[in-house]
Amino acid sequence: MNTTSIGGFRTRVKRSIKWPLIAAVASLPDPVQTLLFAPSIRKYAQRVPILKVVYSGCYRTHPIDRMLGTNTGGIEPPEAIYGDGVDATSFPYMGSQPSLIRCALAQLGDLRDHTFIDIGCGKGRPMIVATEFPFRAVIGYDLAAHLVDIANRNAAIVARRFPERVPMHAYAADALELEFPPGKLVVFMFNPFGAQLMARLLANLSAAYESGSIEAFSVVYFNPICAHVFDSSPLLERRFASSVDYAEEEIGYGAETRQDVFIWTTKT
Ligand SMILES: C[S@@+](CC[C@H](N)C(=O)[O-])C[C@H]1O[C@@H](n2cnc3c(N)ncnc32)[C@H](O)[C@@H]1O
Repeated sequence: MNTTSIGGFRTRVKRSIKWPLIAAVASLPDPVQTLLFAPSIRKYAQRVPILKVVYSGCYRTHPIDRMLGTNTGGIEPPEAIYGDGVDATSFPYMGSQPSLIRCALAQLGDLRDHTFIDIGCGKGRPMIVATEFPFRAVIGYDLAAHLVDIANRNAAIVARRFPERVPMHAYAADALELEFPPGKLVVFMFNPFGAQLMARLLANLSAAYESGSIEAFSVVYFNPICAHVFDSSPLLERRFASSVDYAEEEIGYGAETRQDVFIWTTKT
């Protein structure tokens, strides 16, 4: 075996051990996971490598799920989303923080004639939050059909509880193969993919805008590792760029305590 294939073998072994271990941690009952956040326990337990994932907070029942009875938590490993197509730019599923979504959408002014689209919607947490706003429609797309099913079960829960809100709907689709709905769009993203695919997504949006099928669009991008892609577009201008703190009640339910949030809109 040469050094490259030894490296590849090690990576495969690591992956095959890592996710079953994470699944075992994920199946710890919620009160046990919450107990692990007690400062006196956390101090020691977070030094245990496999327990580190607990401290992402993603496996605790998120306050929005506790409040609504939805399921938007957990981490979905890249293998369960991309199968054999996993590479270095394949990111896992994890949900965004509602307070950050509310903060971002509040920057955009009147949303009544806009469609909210989550590119890589996963279990649909941002769509749930978007239904709090007066969007014309709220939709999301994800590669992973099993996450889309969960998002649509969440949609049914939200629709029963808030019949006055615009319904949300998720579709199993590759976001790079979409035909965008006409009108004004708010395109939301939290780490769906890397720069190469991001450039393709922007090219698709720009073509739809230039052909007139999209009237205007904003890009709301959390953890904007590919911000340069949007900064280099002659059609867009940055409207907001800030590191936004999680709401206090969300601290301990996500990997950080704050997140970079960038927004671009089409120039007028
Ligand atoms: C970090 S998660 C974000 C989930 C959700 N947007 C949120 O903020 O709570 C990224 C999601 O992007 C999805 N994804 C990655 N590539 C995609 C593609 N080409 N088309 C559609 N979804 C994709 C993944 O399946 C994953 O669920």
